[in-house]
Amino acid sequence: MPWSRRHLLTIEDLSLDEINQIHATAAAFKAVLGRRVKRVPALRGKTIVNLFLEPSTRTRISFEMAAKLLSAEVISFDAAASSTTKGETLRDTAQNIQALNADMIVLRHAASGSPLYLSRVLDIPVVNAGDGAHEHPTQGLLDTFTMKEHLGSLRGRKVVILGDILFSRVARSNIHALTKLGADVTLVGPSTLVPDWFTELGVRVSHNLKSALADAEVVMLLRIQHERQGASHFPSLGEYTSMFGLNKTRASWLNPKAIIMHPGPINRGVEIDSELADGDRSVILEQVTNGIAVRMAALYLCAGGQPENVAPVE
Ligand code: CP
Repeated sequence: MPWSRRHLLTIEDLSLDEINQIHATAAAFKAVLGRRVKRVPALRGKTIVNLFLEPSTRTRISFEMAAKLLSAEVISFDAAASSTTKGETLRDTAQNIQALNADMIVLRHAASGSPLYLSRVLDIPVVNAGDGAHEHPTQGLLDTFTMKEHLGSLRGRKVVILGDILFSRVARSNIHALTKLGADVTLVGPSTLVPDWFTELGVRVSHNLKSALADAEVVMLLRIQHERQGASHFPSLGEYTSMFGLNKTRASWLNPKAIIMHPGPINRGVEIDSELADGDRSVILEQVTNGIAVRMAALYLCAGGQPENVAPVE
């Protein structure tokens, strides 16, 4: 099937074939990034606006690098210096950016559903760079891309996602991607942050760290998302770490070849000890690097490109 989607809003919307098409396109761009001349002309003449209304390091910079490597002009919106501080709405802001002849908007926003809303009021493609606790589709795509690089097919692979699942858009996007790719997913953490209703998404829920980690081939740590929690969901960070933090002893319960992942930012000594975050089994910085190729794929496909036509090197 040719790629036909103009917006990338959620992984829940994507078919397995579409996920695999994005991964294949990202693999082709990753090969280009290994060459001496990395820039391709695919989006020459296009202008992409990074409309980030929440803080970001990895996502914002990698979208900016991806756009530049595709030869697009890229403008990163400075929320603190913008007219949103004077009360301008998201819709007005985005419609003005469109009126300024932007060809695509990459949106990060605290409100779940805001990218879908913009996709309905704009004529240009919208790419979701994280909306509230809802989804972070390019993160889920780069995480599963990285897992495939290490494990091959994810069908039947034992993946544990450990931490604050309830408030995590990364968890939701990974759950949708991993279940479509056939992985065996277990969510682990305190019951206040990993409620049983997540089983409705086709995953297991466990509050027993030792049994969940036994023989896992991937463990993905998630930080506590204080910015989205209205009230405390556990007595203290120290008690959370003592129950669910990944340390050397607990990592020994994993499959000996297991990889350790984290979308960042890391809270060292809380959800993961530094010796594991920086250790041989960690692929955390590979995830960051893969974000460039995956975001190149997302921008390229939403701009009308086809996976088989990844442009040649200039
Ligand atoms: N993983 C992630 O979304 O990181 P940033 O918030 O720094 O973009």
